[in-house]
Amino acid sequence: MSTTPLLVTGASGHLGRRVLELLLARGAGPIIATTRNPDSLKDFAARGVDVRRADFDDEASLSQAFRGAGRALLISTDALDRPGRRLAQHQAAIRAMKAAGVRHIVYTSLPNPHPGSPISVAADHRETEAAIQASGLDFTFLRNNLYTDLFLHSLPAAIASGQLVDARGTGATAFVTREDCAQAAAAALAEPTTGRHTLDVTGPEAVTSDELAALLSELAGRKVVHVSVPPDALVRGMVGHGLPQPAAELYASFDAGIQKGELATVTDTVKRLSGHAPQSVRDFLTAHRAVLLPARNT
Ligand SMILES: NC(=O)c1ccc[n+]([C@@H]2O[C@H](COP(=O)([O-])OP(=O)(O)OC[C@H]3O[C@@H](n4cnc5c(N)ncnc54)[C@H](OP(=O)(O)O)[C@@H]3O)[C@@H](O)[C@H]2O)c1
Repeated sequence: MSTTPLLVTGASGHLGRRVLELLLARGAGPIIATTRNPDSLKDFAARGVDVRRADFDDEASLSQAFRGAGRALLISTDALDRPGRRLAQHQAAIRAMKAAGVRHIVYTSLPNPHPGSPISVAADHRETEAAIQASGLDFTFLRNNLYTDLFLHSLPAAIASGQLVDARGTGATAFVTREDCAQAAAAALAEPTTGRHTLDVTGPEAVTSDELAALLSELAGRKVVHVSVPPDALVRGMVGHGLPQPAAELYASFDAGIQKGELATVTDTVKRLSGHAPQSVRDFLTAHRAVLLPARNT
């Protein structure tokens, strides 16, 4: 095991906290965790993690916050409020990592972030990857597929209404759990790999919405049908149900990408990095039955 100081940015988020847990469990480190809110990581500071304040919007502070790190996990931020903001944050973080002496950046990206992708956030990921490539540093791009965990928000309504409405057509998605993404990220950060690697991080199979509806029908004990609508109709429907227009457009762009097959590739990255097979959609949904079917509490 390497003793290179390991840096995790955005460490108070869901993924960041779990990566910290996994790094501690494998005895990796020393570990530096940066966050906008160090108080939120007091529990990790008490366990020996060097918790520091860093806000990618405040570039001047970053080199100091990243000092001493040899390998860094750059967790993409959630700053989607203004076009260009998130990319500027990532570019500032990359410049600061290089200035601080980081040699290898692990970055949480998106599958197929090419210019033709309908997925609206693809450009941020593509340009962030380009900035890391241009930095001259070694890297591992972890192109995380859609989190299976997002189902916990979207599927209860589908089960209740009996309709799984999306704009995915017959497109399949290689959903991956956030836990498996964290396992892959912790391993990619802790292992002393060198060079330049681009890896799709996926679940064990690609699932269509027809297959998902059939699975939901089985788990819920009542019929759920898949209804695929055009992306603009999906946006109108979501806005009609109270979702802000930008969020509706983001979700619909993912559906357009899925319909085109942008998220369908299945890889063995999770197994190769973490040593265990990724969790299937069926196993994840079965483990979360109580959330999906709250009224029945089964
Ligand atoms: N694959 C998927 O399905 C999927 C779904 C949702 C999101 N994502 C992406 O994956 C990332 C990690 O997922 P998650 O579940 O951990 O999301 P999350 O819990 O929402 O965490 C968002 C992270 O962004 C960081 N962040 C926000 N603004 C920042 C800033 N100005 N400077 C530095 N860091 C900033 C936060 O760090 P601090 O609060 O610690 O400063 C936080 O850890 C997300 O941010 C998003 O880019 C992927």
